[in-house]
Amino acid sequence: MSKQRVLSGVQPTGNLHIGNYLGAIRNWVEDQSNYDNFFCVVDLHAITVPHDPKILANNTYNTAALYLACGIDLEYSTIFVQSHVTAHTELTWLLNCITPLNWLERMIQFKEKAVKQGENVSVGLLDYPVLMAADILLYDADRVPVGEDQKQHLELTRDIAIRINDKFGSPDIPVLKLPNPLIRKEGARVMSLTDGTSKMSKSDPSDMSRINLLDSQELIQKKIKRCKTDPIKGLTFDVENRPECTNLLTLYSLFSGKSLEETAKECENMGWGQFKPILTEATIEALKPIQDRYQAIVNDKGYLDSVLREGCQKAETVANQTLLRVKNALGFLQK
Ligand code: AMP
Ligand code: TRP
Repeated sequence: MSKQRVLSGVQPTGNLHIGNYLGAIRNWVEDQSNYDNFFCVVDLHAITVPHDPKILANNTYNTAALYLACGIDLEYSTIFVQSHVTAHTELTWLLNCITPLNWLERMIQFKEKAVKQGENVSVGLLDYPVLMAADILLYDADRVPVGEDQKQHLELTRDIAIRINDKFGSPDIPVLKLPNPLIRKEGARVMSLTDGTSKMSKSDPSDMSRINLLDSQELIQKKIKRCKTDPIKGLTFDVENRPECTNLLTLYSLFSGKSLEETAKECENMGWGQFKPILTEATIEALKPIQDRYQAIVNDKGYLDSVLREGCQKAETVANQTLLRVKNALGFLQK
């Protein structure tokens, strides 16, 4: 039996942080040998909010280097750039024409981002989840490992696939495969260091709110030293009443590899002065191998170019087949 397919992606917007790593990329790496994996750098998504053309290509390149640095293994996985495979935009158009407008207007992330954009909301921002659906459906993905914030987009992807199948497929031959979200319990929602009730995010204006994967050891130390805590003695998991404490304990557990129970026991009598240095050390230790590998990869442009060229070819082969299947189902004149 052939392996199940996995697809996921991250936008090349600014710095990748530990939320991206713990919520998404770490899970891609962990299970990769069991699946046939496609990981894309979703640069078309990155232009749904105003962007700087001078840095887009560089960010795309660096994000691909980080995938490799985090441990994506080309023996099991294909890495490619979304805009290199034109089937993504083409399928998006086809899906657009069967997706009801009010499905998109309901999307929480659209509503949140639209408020931030003020007068500047593009059609692309509204259409963002349809492009994401195209990314997933083109590869007949069985599983999509993402953070908690993408759950609604995955439900929409399934709804779009169901609609296409109902309208254009036959009961025994579906046009599109229904994907399943893969959202781990721990790390699926890493919170800001300056506010335990809001998500750690690339777009937070304060860099102190997040730990970026490429932050120096000194910077990581400074950020943890200054992060928000509470005045209660003894550290406990308690999302309702102690969001910051819960977030920091979870980070410690994930970076140290200790279970939540072990972590709770180890830290139950600690004060912040004792806990912060061990969290700092565990974080630095966990990120160091990624940072070391990143430096080697990003300086070898020839290698990275060849990875992306090969990735594009493999991705195109799969994506073009699905696109053709959908076009045939929709009744287009064949070439
Ligand atoms: P983005 O930065 O929006 O391209 O997100 C890329 C991936 O990281 C997606 O799977 C997100 O769900 C995940 N992600 C982003 N922020 C967080 C966070 N604070 N905690 C956990 N996962 C996150
Ligand atoms: N929308 C996702 C995010 O911001 C990124 C993304 C785009 C994605 N296409 C995807 C994730 C396909 C998984 C599968 O986090």
